[in-house]
Amino acid sequence: MVNLPAMTELKLIKQQDKTDYQTRIILLDNINDIEKLSELAESAAFIKLQVKNKEKSIPVYNYKSGTTTWLITPPDENVQKIRSDEDLRQTASDLFRKIQKSAPEELVIYTSSGTGKNLLSVLEGFMLSSYKFDKYKTEIGQPEKEIGTIKIPENEVKEKDLKDLSNVIKAVFRARTLVNEPLSYLTAQKFSEEIENLGREAGFIVEVFQKSRIEALKMGGLLGVNKGSPNPPTFNILDYNPTGAVNKKPYVLVGKGVVYDTGGISLKPSEGMEAMKCDMAGAAAVAGTIYAAAANKLPVHIIGLIPATENRPSGDAIVPGDILTISNGKTVEVINTDAEGRLILADALCYAKKFNPELVIDLATLTGSAIRAIGKEGMVMMGTAGAEVKSQLTETGFEVYERIVEFPLWEEYGKYLESDIADIKNLGPSEAGAITAGKFLEFFTSFPWIHLDIAGGAFLSSEDSYRGKNGTGIGVRLIYNFLKKQAE
Ligand code: BES
Ligand code: ZN
Ligand code: ZN
Repeated sequence: MVNLPAMTELKLIKQQDKTDYQTRIILLDNINDIEKLSELAESAAFIKLQVKNKEKSIPVYNYKSGTTTWLITPPDENVQKIRSDEDLRQTASDLFRKIQKSAPEELVIYTSSGTGKNLLSVLEGFMLSSYKFDKYKTEIGQPEKEIGTIKIPENEVKEKDLKDLSNVIKAVFRARTLVNEPLSYLTAQKFSEEIENLGREAGFIVEVFQKSRIEALKMGGLLGVNKGSPNPPTFNILDYNPTGAVNKKPYVLVGKGVVYDTGGISLKPSEGMEAMKCDMAGAAAVAGTIYAAAANKLPVHIIGLIPATENRPSGDAIVPGDILTISNGKTVEVINTDAEGRLILADALCYAKKFNPELVIDLATLTGSAIRAIGKEGMVMMGTAGAEVKSQLTETGFEVYERIVEFPLWEEYGKYLESDIADIKNLGPSEAGAITAGKFLEFFTSFPWIHLDIAGGAFLSSEDSYRGKNGTGIGVRLIYNFLKKQAE
């Protein structure tokens, strides 16, 4: 099983106990509040000067009592709420990296007004920064110290909100770890076992189709991509169906689960190929989202579909020019074996139809073209779902700062994929690559559908605030919060 470091615990305490701690973080709601915080009042002039210099977090040491208080300055009232929430998460992340070095066993976080306003954003940024993946580090010596418990006065936040936040963060961490696990551990089979573990832990049902069942279903896309691999594929169905669900027709989430993408016979260049263990980040986001929904008992029926396989070259591998038959009977001419994600997603999208879905959302590290278009700052959306769904998703994207930009699915792009000998080919010309990938997927949909190309932000080569480095777990907070809105 995936090794998970114990996560820092969030715990409620009585309000009057909040000054008992050696290390504190106080979110100032109003700069004048420092006058009210008697223990800080003597530093008021100093703090105000720092605020003028646009310092976002300020350490205040009290040498008599031996305490350290970190002040977070109030968010700028003139900026949009989405921006100030993000500023707080990022400030909290910076603070985490400073405080982590001294690793206090416990620390307390509260607001100067005692209202808990914006406190969840601070906790979110702080906690999300605490992720690490050190399973394969063997060095013995001093184990790194960690922050033990974070305490929050009970009048500041509701217990349920704290629990929910904690579960979502846990879900993001699970997704990150799945992304960070190399192929030497995470084959398709292992991935399925990990998803089963998540299901047992959070409370959803997982059904795993092995190769024989995949063959019986004639999933020619998944089988074709898998052909060059020594390990068999799996097709995973995650079902979270709570009593009292608000929706009759399920939300279906589809995740690209290429546990490793070498490109196949159309082999990728070796530079940076190690990052291609991230090609199941869409699948990890689906598993993480359903984990969070189940853990928090969202009253929404959600189904996850994950086709999982490696993409590898071998004597048995498919070659450019081959024809594959997808499970709905449509034929695909393979132009490039590195455009494999769309082939396995085609089978999953066909399978989604069985559920008569309210909406299907697929998440995939699908194209380098999407990365070139927006980099790591966002994800690319296309789809046939209604304007309301798209604007709700986009809005949620801004709120959680997993931002979305829509690309068109104009019919002209469909012509780019016309094949001489099959119904469609798997690659268009070099321009508009993210769009033709979306256009290919559209060919296999017959329901309201959204495609999210998360290639840009799924795996980072350098640290980016609370998103950290390597697997980011993007998609989890976005889709969880979108589904939560559907429940309200
Ligand atoms: N998994 C890749 C896309 C990708 C690239 C994800 C970098 C994350 C980081 C996908 O399967 C792929 O190889 N796409 C190719 C298609 C090519 C054959 C036109 C691409 O977009 O470069
Ligand atoms: Zn590829
Ligand atoms: Zn790929």
